[in-house]
Amino acid sequence: MEIISRTRIVDLLKREDFGAMVNVKGWVRTRRGSKKVNFIALNDGSTINNVQLVVDLGEFDEELLKKITTGACISVNGVLTESMGKGQNAEIQVKEIEVLGVCDSSFPLQKKGHSLEFLREIAHLRPRTNTFGAVFRIRHNMAYAIHKYFHDRGFFYFHTPLITGSDAEGAGEMFQVTTLDLNNVPKDENGKINYKEDFFGKEANLTVSGQLEGELAATALGAIYTFGPTFRAENSNTPRHLAEFWMIEPEVAFNDNNDNMNLAEDFIKYCVQWALDNCMDDLKFLNEHFDKGLIERLQGVVKVEFKRATYTEGIKVLEEAVAKGHKFEFPVYWGADLASEHERFLVEEHYKRPVIMTDYPKEIKAFYMKQNEDGKTVRGMDVLFPKIGEIIGGSEREVDYDTLMQRVEENHIPLKDMWWYLDTRKYGSCPHSGFGLGFERLLLFVTGMSNIRDVIPFPRTPNNADF
Ligand code: 4AD
Repeated sequence: MEIISRTRIVDLLKREDFGAMVNVKGWVRTRRGSKKVNFIALNDGSTINNVQLVVDLGEFDEELLKKITTGACISVNGVLTESMGKGQNAEIQVKEIEVLGVCDSSFPLQKKGHSLEFLREIAHLRPRTNTFGAVFRIRHNMAYAIHKYFHDRGFFYFHTPLITGSDAEGAGEMFQVTTLDLNNVPKDENGKINYKEDFFGKEANLTVSGQLEGELAATALGAIYTFGPTFRAENSNTPRHLAEFWMIEPEVAFNDNNDNMNLAEDFIKYCVQWALDNCMDDLKFLNEHFDKGLIERLQGVVKVEFKRATYTEGIKVLEEAVAKGHKFEFPVYWGADLASEHERFLVEEHYKRPVIMTDYPKEIKAFYMKQNEDGKTVRGMDVLFPKIGEIIGGSEREVDYDTLMQRVEENHIPLKDMWWYLDTRKYGSCPHSGFGLGFERLLLFVTGMSNIRDVIPFPRTPNNADF
């Protein structure tokens, strides 16, 4: 086959130099036509759109043509031609074909319209579908937008460890990392596991959040963000929880909780606008096939001002709804942790816009949040989104050494794991704030998918660590 440099389909479809010889490589989506001419829809992953290959059957060897089945990988040289079909600029009149990889007849993506549940069982192949191609291109774009947002504003990308000795959230939901022989665990004289014999000489876990290390960095570099895998061993088998998810955690010296909220709102709007500006083909596909209101909802969110309300105001709204006969599964009272049904009621039915909820009771929030003067609430803030609930959790941090120590003790957090964190409060402490955005929750919103397992290539959930 003549050597011509490859053109990606996304670029090829924009070209108008009809008559040029081009090369494309990709996977066959469909093949149809008559005994004389066949039309092959070829996709190379660079865009949701396929290029149409027009193949004059008489010009090719029958044995070669037999190998061009759905899923096969081919390379073609041909003439770029103006397409007669509507919605398509260019097609290719094929001159040469090379089959790079034949596709066995057991290929499960022969026909269109598989359920998302079925596709989850073939996570190794689902990126080849239109749906997952769209989702994973958007995922990439969002990751890029996030780095760009922070870089352009002078934040430094700071790498926090995945293996840690401390529980940042104090919720005890950590996956342990050990090289101990589970069939023969060494014990000390009190019958407790002797971690001195373990790899790190102490108990170690996968991180639940990079925040504590991020705080150290913010009090040195000013403004930082982390963006990495996060692990939680919470047994929540819901469409919004993963055991392994990606979190973005900015942390900013001298920001109070108000600055923190402004940053969160501006940041989310920037990401959504980025998707609207850069992923429209994929969004249109998802809008048409999964969520008819998707694009309109995205356009709405970048324009609307998020509602800011305190937890106490939120509880009042929920109590009033209960008094009017609204039924919630979980009880509503001041001090209760808001369940997803409560958050969605506030966002979707009451305020009808994203809500930033602040000043939660200290008992239901993490030990590091700054206490308010009332002694009861903390300067935490959660961003609640339509269809999703909590998308961001954050706070201004407690910087007073004694108050923080008191919270550490009240929460029975082993001090030996925290000495380095507490040092920040001794050596030139400063007000600072930050938050964590669940990357997959953002993607749920931006793609309109309804299950978090469908916005990450290889979901990790209870009883699922295949692929
Ligand atoms: O509210 P969370 O637990 O806050 C923290 O981890 C703080 N250390 C963040 C900070 O202040 N730097 O989690 C933050 C966000 C949630 O709002 C949610 O979007 C996401 O992380 N998240 C999950 N996403 C998927 N699966 C899970 N199991 C998640 N748990 C939290």
